Amino acid sequence: MAKINIKIEGIPCQVEAGLTILEAAKACGYEIPTLCSFNHGECNVGSCRVCLVEATGARGLVASCVYPVAEGMEIRIGSPAAVDARRHSVELLLSNHNKNCQQCDKNGHCELLYVAQLTGARDDAFAGAHSETYVDRVAPSLVRDTSKCILCGRCVERCKNAHGLGILGFEHRGFSTIVSPAENRSFADSPCIQCGQCVNVCPTGALMEHSEIARIDAAFKAGKHVIAQAAPAVRAALGEEFGYPIGTPVTGKMAAAMRRLGFERVYDVNFGADLTYMEEGTELLKRLTEGGALPMITSCSPGWVNYAEYNYGDLLPHLSSCKSPHQMQGAIIKHWWAKQNGIDPEDVFVVSVMPCVAKKFEKERDQEKVDGIPDVDAVITTRELARMIRRNGMLFNRLPEEDWDQDIMGDYSGAGVIFGVTGGVMEAALRTVYYKLTGKEHDPIEFTDVRGHEAGIREAAVDINGTVVNVAIASGMKSAKVLLDEIRAGTSKYQFIEIMGCPGGCVNGGGQPYVRPVFLPNEADDILDTYKEKRARALYTEDERQTVRQSHNNPQIVQLYEQFLGEPNGHLSHKLLHTAYAGREGFNAATGE
Ligand code: SF4
Ligand code: SF4
Ligand code: SF4
Ligand code: FES
Repeated sequence: MAKINIKIEGIPCQVEAGLTILEAAKACGYEIPTLCSFNHGECNVGSCRVCLVEATGARGLVASCVYPVAEGMEIRIGSPAAVDARRHSVELLLSNHNKNCQQCDKNGHCELLYVAQLTGARDDAFAGAHSETYVDRVAPSLVRDTSKCILCGRCVERCKNAHGLGILGFEHRGFSTIVSPAENRSFADSPCIQCGQCVNVCPTGALMEHSEIARIDAAFKAGKHVIAQAAPAVRAALGEEFGYPIGTPVTGKMAAAMRRLGFERVYDVNFGADLTYMEEGTELLKRLTEGGALPMITSCSPGWVNYAEYNYGDLLPHLSSCKSPHQMQGAIIKHWWAKQNGIDPEDVFVVSVMPCVAKKFEKERDQEKVDGIPDVDAVITTRELARMIRRNGMLFNRLPEEDWDQDIMGDYSGAGVIFGVTGGVMEAALRTVYYKLTGKEHDPIEFTDVRGHEAGIREAAVDINGTVVNVAIASGMKSAKVLLDEIRAGTSKYQFIEIMGCPGGCVNGGGQPYVRPVFLPNEADDILDTYKEKRARALYTEDERQTVRQSHNNPQIVQLYEQFLGEPNGHLSHKLLHTAYAGREGFNAATGE
């Protein structure tokens, strides 16, 4: 790439041609504040004006996030005019903002508050009218509060980029402009899949997960038997909330923290993941040998299930009937653990700690209840768990490394751990399917062809005793759509497909810690490109460290079938561990019906 010469504050610097002033300044050692620009221009509407600088060749001040550098350009970031202009931009945003920071769950991660502090903006500089506020708390997963929206458009772009969906858009005009689903409907009345990818990029508290911490507090107060279980991807990211480098697994400290929050038992959902592979692998084998809709598609991602129900009702028979791992494990806690301990299932309150916000919706589904009893009672995200740990005064870094409770669901295999990565469900299922078809373990244990961390489609042809099984993996609905349209057209060559709602899989779920370079001074400049891979690496490392690495070799899984369930896909398994879907095609966002 050709180099050009610029000057910043009168000091020469050489940078690549074609960069924006913002990027060039970063290369020269400056951080210009931003709000609407995000992730290599994923959203670059140039609307917030908090990145204004002076530049020769331009008339007046320019938005550095969109203005390109040119040979000989002289840039002033710290001139009185530039400093004043940036402060005024933030003050304008604050003038129409509901500044209740004390009650705002975004506090501590809020980029608006950060730039306000950075620029010295006063919150009363422009007193005046506030636009009308709309708050949507109807959907189980998400909360939208327009009084905290700065109209940056990041969420609009993320929904399009991840899923090809345009659930969020700009509504109304001028001072009344808001960002919302069509016609300012609730998320619950739109074909939103409740994945939370928009929450992950929102710089303020305008989009948040629907917190369930208060429900857990109430269960404790009511004297319930409150049992917690944590998903694999949580351990790969929770440490980020407490200053650990991205990709540091914190399994032992997480178990210790959850125990100190007062939960009667703390379990790892990896056990439930192993159970899922037993059920799903058996289901796939049945479909391959006895007939059934092929390709079979995984069903553990509720965002993906929502998408299928809204858009591909005709393909629902292709989805595995397996519940997701935390729902399976919740059903086992309520209907086996409770029985073993002489407890009425109605007195048990199961809390799932998830990287996902769509799980909050999933647990509410009628199809996820057994005899009217929900498998799971509350779902909190990785971020909410961190909030509870801080609220209860724990110094996470000083916690000891502890193990999960071992009584009935303490063992898990390496296969269970990699559930949290795109391609992980496929690989883990293949480890068991290979064994069931051949009577021997795959050597090497890994199926590395299905690995990867980016959105997009990966495929592999797996030779099992001379039978070739064609498999494909997609994460994010934009990629999944390609595979689904092939099935619809009758041209799909696959027998088994893994689909995850969030790009990169659960490690990049909508409930994971925010990745904001500005709050992560010790991470590399390219952290927005590499964080998914780093979190995934944490899980693959834990898989490699396990002595048991296939679900069918987990001794407590074997025991569960011997003592309680009978056989995979058997009568009791179907009652407790399998679910059903209902098409919502033809859903009309205008009427909500
Ligand atoms: S979004 Fe930020 S500035 Fe607004 S109330 Fe929340 S913490 Fe405060
Ligand atoms: S939750 Fe997902 S589908 Fe819904 S608006 Fe946000 S990004 Fe789009
Ligand atoms: S909801 Fe958040 S991400 Fe979306 S436009 Fe408003 S502030 Fe930006
Ligand atoms: S960050 Fe440049 S205009 Fe918003």
